[in-house]
Amino acid sequence: MNNLRHLMSPLDFSTEELDKLFDLANDIEKNPAKYAHLCDGKILATCFYEPSTRTRLSFESAMYNLGGNVLGFSDAGSSSAAKGESVSDTIRTVSCFADICAMRHPKEGAPMVAASKSSIPVINAGDGGHQHPTQTLTDLLTIRSLKGRLDNFTIGLCGDLKFGRTVHSLINALIRYENITFIFISPEELKVPDYITDMLKDKGIAYEEVISLENCMPKLDLLYMTRVQRERFFNEEDYVRLKDFYILTKAKMQLAKEDMLVLHPLPRVNEISVEVDDDPRAVYFKQVQYGMYVRMALIATLLGLA
Ligand code: CP
Repeated sequence: MNNLRHLMSPLDFSTEELDKLFDLANDIEKNPAKYAHLCDGKILATCFYEPSTRTRLSFESAMYNLGGNVLGFSDAGSSSAAKGESVSDTIRTVSCFADICAMRHPKEGAPMVAASKSSIPVINAGDGGHQHPTQTLTDLLTIRSLKGRLDNFTIGLCGDLKFGRTVHSLINALIRYENITFIFISPEELKVPDYITDMLKDKGIAYEEVISLENCMPKLDLLYMTRVQRERFFNEEDYVRLKDFYILTKAKMQLAKEDMLVLHPLPRVNEISVEVDDDPRAVYFKQVQYGMYVRMALIATLLGLA
């Protein structure tokens, strides 16, 4: 039980371990047949207490592509959580049926509670507004694969920087690389939390907070767009007022560098116009594909098979 390795935060892996994970993911992409039976006889449980398309399906696809099987639930209402079962009791139960578990939960820290009671590896697949480590692994693999490095970038993070857990995880992960400058692009109400800017100040990492996307476009090497997180707003009126604050259009893309990449964790609502999808710099659907490769690499690593 003590040798169990979970993934709660992208920082659970050192940068050297991440390099190894990303090398494995790239090798899986190039040589899928080599890995097609790696997880024969193994079972992944997906315990999703919150909606998901990419994360859950990419975990499931990852396990099938490794030769394993999948069980789980995609809605708390169809599990015994609806009868009041605790996360601790659920994971003890799931541990009897599966070899590894990916858990998404609206409460921050719930996957950590599960991990503390689990006899199988637990992967945090998103906990409230806190962390989304496998999205961060996806983002880093996408950047590293398409740019060839994870250092020396100016990255713009745009949209809901207050509630966006993918943003918080990505910032925490990127600060470990050299010469990263952050430009936080948001309306006043959706600014990145103070604990993040305080941490950047403490570490002497360069950042700016701006409202205009257009003005900073020419400076960016990477633009990470996010949707406004309706489910985390207390007030529908505020959501409606802010939801279309940023819309990335072809005209705005003309202001950007020729090799700037546009990433988005998805789902998209309105914040990237569909006319941008054909721009070769728009890599958010490639990012989805990288998400599956990195989850394959992660499952293999946490099961001790890689
Ligand atoms: N990026 C992401 O977490 O997407 P889903 O909510 O569809 O899983």
